[in-house]
Amino acid sequence: MTPPLLTITDVAVELPTPRGILRAVDDVDLSLQAGRTLGIVGESGCGKTMLSRAILQLLPKKAKLSGRVMFDGQDLVQLAPESLRRLRARDLAVVFQDPMTSLNPVLTIGTQLMETLQEHLELDTPAARKRSIELLAAVGIPAPEQRLAQYPHQCSGGMRQRIAIAIALSCEPKLLIADEPTTALDVTIQAQILDLLAREQRRRHMAMIIITHDLGVVAGRADEVAVMYAGRVVERAPTPMLFKRMHMPYTEALLAAIPKLETAPHTPLPAISGRPPDPTRPLKGCSFAPRCRYATSRCREAKPELTSAEMADHLYACFHPIKMAEGIGA
Ligand SMILES: Nc1ncnc2c1ncn2[C@@H]1O[C@H](COP(=O)(O)OP(=O)(O)OP(=O)(O)O)[C@@H](O)[C@H]1O
Ligand code: SF4
Ligand SMILES: [Mg+2]
Repeated sequence: MTPPLLTITDVAVELPTPRGILRAVDDVDLSLQAGRTLGIVGESGCGKTMLSRAILQLLPKKAKLSGRVMFDGQDLVQLAPESLRRLRARDLAVVFQDPMTSLNPVLTIGTQLMETLQEHLELDTPAARKRSIELLAAVGIPAPEQRLAQYPHQCSGGMRQRIAIAIALSCEPKLLIADEPTTALDVTIQAQILDLLAREQRRRHMAMIIITHDLGVVAGRADEVAVMYAGRVVERAPTPMLFKRMHMPYTEALLAAIPKLETAPHTPLPAISGRPPDPTRPLKGCSFAPRCRYATSRCREAKPELTSAEMADHLYACFHPIKMAEGIGA
């Protein structure tokens, strides 16, 4: 079997805060094959962005990273800054929640796309212009030629996200990390952007990590799902297997929190009661215990490891796994 494109082993991220050391990512192991999609799902603050930044080696300056991030045969933690920069520009791309993070407000869309193409693919100006138009058309931008002369503020939020995706795709990356790329957009545009990512991913045989707080987003779109809670991966399985029979009470709670299609827009989500633990005060036992309806004294005394029982590729960290859950089609 070909080795995975990405393997992360024992990755932890610690951040100094006035309240003490905050362990944002806690010993995470994951791997991803070329051309496959991994969904990372969890509530706000569970460490999804820190984990993606650990993969990209784009952590805040004060952050302490440990573990190994092997990408395409190289350990990114050991790589020199210049090699990393080159790798991020070509093979490892990212789309953030707010497209303005990656777009430059004072440069036209054409300049930004063409500069990227000229620098990394060494195209001349006419070739870069032609490729830019093709890329904008591929991400569903009408009249792409006219768009080249516009600035980001002249485009809608959905258009800006499409442009950020076009720039991310421009160098034909091997892995695209999409960190909540649709959270700021309305529901119809969200679906369009997610479908666009899925289509481009298949067409390019690109691997993708899609990060979201909404388990519904990864159903049918990811090959495998990793559920994160309080910095750890607490359940991991091929997507259809997870939806058929989830084992972690937290995953079950996330499933119940999926916004239903028939719900009116802006209806508050049926929140999972309680709050995640303070990440500067790690709990002795299972981090979900204070909110878990199945918790016992054992859960408060010891931390469950991520292991598999019956199926080798279905992992979960729970002492009292749910036997059967009412699944949804994935
Ligand atoms: N620059 C920072 N300095 C200190 N702590 C931070 C910093 N950025 C994030 N954190 C903390 O790290 C933890 C993980 O944050 P992270 O942004 O990775 O969560 P997330 O799962 O991406 O949440 P969201 O869904 O809101 O984007 C949180 O407790 C957060 O408060
Ligand atoms: S280990 Fe215990 S507290 Fe944690 S999720 Fe499982 S049942 Fe709930
Ligand atoms: Mg985030």
